[in-house]
Parts: sequence; C-alpha cells; structure tokens
Amino acid sequence: MSMNEVREALRTRFEADAILGATALPIVPPDAVPRSTGPTGPVRASTTTDPDELRRRLATLQTLDETQVRGCRKCGLADGRTQTVFGQGSVAARIVFVGEAPGFEEDRTGQPFVGRAGELLTAMIERGMGLRRDDVYICNVIKCRPPNNRTPAPDEIAACCPYLFEQLRTIQPEVIVALGAPAAQTLLNTRESIGKLRGRFHDFYPSGSALVGDPVPLMPTFHPAYLLRSPWEKAKAWEDLKLVLTRLELPIPRKT
Ligand code: URA
Ligand code: SF4
Repeated sequence: MSMNEVREALRTRFEADAILGATALPIVPPDAVPRSTGPTGPVRASTTTDPDELRRRLATLQTLDETQVRGCRKCGLADGRTQTVFGQGSVAARIVFVGEAPGFEEDRTGQPFVGRAGELLTAMIERGMGLRRDDVYICNVIKCRPPNNRTPAPDEIAACCPYLFEQLRTIQPEVIVALGAPAAQTLLNTRESIGKLRGRFHDFYPSGSALVGDPVPLMPTFHPAYLLRSPWEKAKAWEDLKLVLTRLELPIPRKT
C-alpha cells in the first residue's frame, strides 16, 4: 500500500465513522446539502414528475398491497404476523432499498425499517447520502415477520418475492440497493456471499428473467443490522453508497 492509498483508506474510514456512526451528530445538516444542483448540472429528484404516471404507480402499489399482500397466506409466515409490512416511500424514488424481512418493531407498526437497524438505515440515507428518507423507497423481500427474526427459508422467499418484483417494476428506480445477503441473493439469483457481491454494480432484471427487458443497476451492501454488530464494516458500506451517489450524479456530502 502506498502512502496515498493509506491516506485514502484512513480518510474513508474516518468519513464512514463520522457519517454512519450511530452516535455521530449530523456532519452536514440535510438541508445544507445541495439538492437541486450537482457537480454535473441539474439533478433530478425523482424518476418522473408526470402526475398521471405517479398516480398510476400509487394505484398499482395500493392495489397490490390491499388486494394481495394484506390477506396473503402463501407461506407459513402468515401465522406469526401481527400485520404485513408492504413498503414505504416515494413512488418517484430514484433509489429503492431492499431489506430482508420485518422485525419486531416493523411487525408492530406496519412500516419497514423503524427499529434499531432502521435508525441506522435512516442515518445512512439522510446524514450519509444527504437524501431524505421520504424521497427514496424502502421495502423488504419478505412481507411478514419470521419467528424470532430468523432468516427466511427459500420456500418463503419464493412465495413472497413476486410482490417485491412487482414493486420494483412499478417504481422503476434508477438504482436498487440490496441490504444483506437474502436481498442481494434473491434479486440477483445467486448464492454468492454479500462480502463478494458488494462493492460493484450488478444487473437486476425486473422481469425476473435475464433475457428480458433493460437491467437496473443493483448495488449489494451490508445490512444495517450487521453493521450494528460489526461497526468496522461501515467504511465498506459507505464506499458502496458513494458509488450509488456517483452513479446518480448526486453530490457526495463531505465533512465540513
Ligand atoms: N430488517 C430488515 O431487513 N427489514 C426491516 O424492515 C427491518 C429490519
Ligand atoms: Fe404472503 Fe409473503 Fe407473508 Fe408469506 S411472507 S404470507 S408470501 S406476504
């Protein structure tokens, strides 16, 4: 490693601790981050502003939630849930974050990522990336809480993931961030570990077939619950999120 590489590694590590550290104060208040202009000119806040298209997306997701997901009994997880957790955020989102499955707080409230891992994800989005949680979309591979938060079984993922695919086809994000192995492996149809998948974009095919349609760039990264247990990995997650910002031509917030 050259001196420059060492310096760069330390800087990244410092930034990640400062920006993603659960106890860190906001480095850049979200409002101070330029939201309408980036280094390469105007930055879109959303994939579309056409009101008809946005209404259509909203209606599609509402119908999917109300007529299929809420009463779904396609797998055994239906028995243990308080309620299903469909997803939350903007139907015009440029980025969709996909987690694993609801936990205790999510099952209780019906909203994704509202417990401890959710607090870290929100910090990653707002303090780290300089975006607003409301401007992205957040959902999970699995819509019902597994008992004791165990990892979902392959048959449960197979039963539930058509809902996720429909969400992604409806929102048509420019980038998908897969949080943790179950999300990344499901969306990319691979058994590769998250450690090997993260750090670069992969092609996601919303049709579910690698032969049909235009692929969406997908960035696998560590799940925030894992980052809470392994905080030294935050630097790598921050590298991944910076690649997402760069891909979208969004400014990378810096420590001021
Ligand atoms: N972990 C997840 O994967 N999803 C949630 O919604 C909450 C915690
Ligand atoms: Fe249906 Fe998914 Fe819930 Fe299983 S986890 S019952 S497939 S909504």
